[in-house]
Amino acid sequence: MNQLAPIITRTGQPAADDDFAAAVQAGLRRRRKALPSKYFYDARGSALFDQICSLPEYYPTRTETALLQRHAAAVAGHIGPGAELIEFGAGSTRKVRFLLDALDRPAAYLPIDISGSHLRAAAAKLAADYPALDIRPVVADYTAGLALPPASGRRAGFFPGSTIGNFTPEEALDFLRGAARGRAGGGLLIGVDLVKDPALLHAAYNDAAGVTAAFNLNLLQRIGRELDSDIDPGRFDHYAFYEPRRQRIEMHLVSRMAQTVRIGRARHRFAAGESIHTENSCKYTLDGFRDLARRAGFRPAQAWCDPDALFSIHWLEAPR
Ligand code: AVI
Repeated sequence: MNQLAPIITRTGQPAADDDFAAAVQAGLRRRRKALPSKYFYDARGSALFDQICSLPEYYPTRTETALLQRHAAAVAGHIGPGAELIEFGAGSTRKVRFLLDALDRPAAYLPIDISGSHLRAAAAKLAADYPALDIRPVVADYTAGLALPPASGRRAGFFPGSTIGNFTPEEALDFLRGAARGRAGGGLLIGVDLVKDPALLHAAYNDAAGVTAAFNLNLLQRIGRELDSDIDPGRFDHYAFYEPRRQRIEMHLVSRMAQTVRIGRARHRFAAGESIHTENSCKYTLDGFRDLARRAGFRPAQAWCDPDALFSIHWLEAPR
């Protein structure tokens, strides 16, 4: 029976979400108010995100899942036998099962996630289904740089869901550069959402059931739950739109009225219609993403996409 290895945290660092209060104060003090999208994922936000993934309008999850299912054997061929698999932002660990089923004797699986409770539950479930697998969950903010234990052999990264799109292209380049280092001849399997008809994108981030709106507004509820604040999420609206020049969805929370919000001892003033920018979700063309990967030091070896060209997965080979 698999003995789940203890949760690893970044040595000498505080728990992954201790800096929420500081980030909120800094973000709301900016001339253009903004909050980092990584703070969406408290327990409620993670549960809402899981709901988003099964919405009819939200095509990325089901399209990527079908791609992984269909091409798992080819991907496993690229990864090779006895590799260590590291998943960035592991969440529910549902997608990795297709890889684990196809891989030849993986040496270990290291799921990394900022939400400790979510990760623990998902890792325990996975351990029950893969008793022979060495699972080493890591609670960490992988966007802030990681000190992982040295690899015992080939190391393959797995970064599904187009979470790379939540970085600006400059941040994405930094992340990819970091991922290209220390891969010991392995590589990175990454899911990337594609540029497409803006109407499809608009629907995916403005679903009829209002789950994406609840996910966005949960950030304000989180401020109310965790910080000493009089914030009223009912005074804000979810607003998401496609910005074609930057090829990205922007999500905002728009103040319905002029208001002052207290958080701790600070007071933050909002004009009517002023927004807090909460997320970018960048979309790429196949060539645009391959170029970015090359600039980061990878060799884009193979990409797969669905017949409607909604979503892509890429195997990027790391330098030796
Ligand atoms: C996690 N990430 C890739 C999602 C996205 O599509 O950018 C987060 C999300 N935001 C709204 N809906 C889903």
